[in-house]
Amino acid sequence: MKIIDLDLGIRPHKKSVRGWKQCAERGVQLAKRKHNFSSGQDLNLDRKLKVIVKYYIPFFSEICPVTLRSAKILDLGCGSYPPLDWISSNNRLFEPWLCRVLFYMGIDIIGIDLGKLEFEDFRGYGETDLMYWEKSPAYREIEDDSIDLVNISSVFDSPTLVFRYGFYHRLKEHLIETLERKMTPGGVLFLNESSRDCSRIGKCKY
Ligand SMILES: C[S@@+](CC[C@H](N)C(=O)[O-])C[C@H]1O[C@@H](n2cnc3c(N)ncnc32)[C@H](O)[C@@H]1O
Repeated sequence: MKIIDLDLGIRPHKKSVRGWKQCAERGVQLAKRKHNFSSGQDLNLDRKLKVIVKYYIPFFSEICPVTLRSAKILDLGCGSYPPLDWISSNNRLFEPWLCRVLFYMGIDIIGIDLGKLEFEDFRGYGETDLMYWEKSPAYREIEDDSIDLVNISSVFDSPTLVFRYGFYHRLKEHLIETLERKMTPGGVLFLNESSRDCSRIGKCKY
């Protein structure tokens, strides 16, 4: 398993990423329609969706060991509906937008979160505590050696996590240990502890 940790400054190699923009924009359109979100309702969410198209999808296509079309991706702490992390009364920011967009792009995505995922079209395991996920249906049902790419964005500083387990918790170490078994030999774990500043992905030096 290869680990790309933005916070440690580890950078991937650049590969051609053409062809994804249109497909990602279509995924965003479908996700917005399906989940009743129109541009202008929430500027932070508009920005987040743009970041998904401009940075996340091309970046994933670069770091993924196989083509995104054939990849199996896992998003841990993917967000939920309703979101558990509360930042404002009209907060849709931490719904599982990345999983939704990838799903509507036709990519094989699995999402896991402590909150509910029951209304989602993608394969999701809601109400799953990642601190103990090796005892959950999610862990049993995800085949060993099957995941090509894992995304963990903005989870370790989640207010929900900190409230449950206090400031110091060993979720990151625990996930690294337990993920190895689920990932393909060349699988990549992408850690981005501050997805609120996802533009850093675009500033990566290759
Ligand atoms: C700040 S949100 C980030 C959501 C999404 N990854 C994103 O970048 O928009 C953090 C997410 O982690 C989830 N979370 C926190 N503690 C968790 C735990 N112990 N097990 C599973 N999910 C957890 C929360 O429910 C929330 O959806």
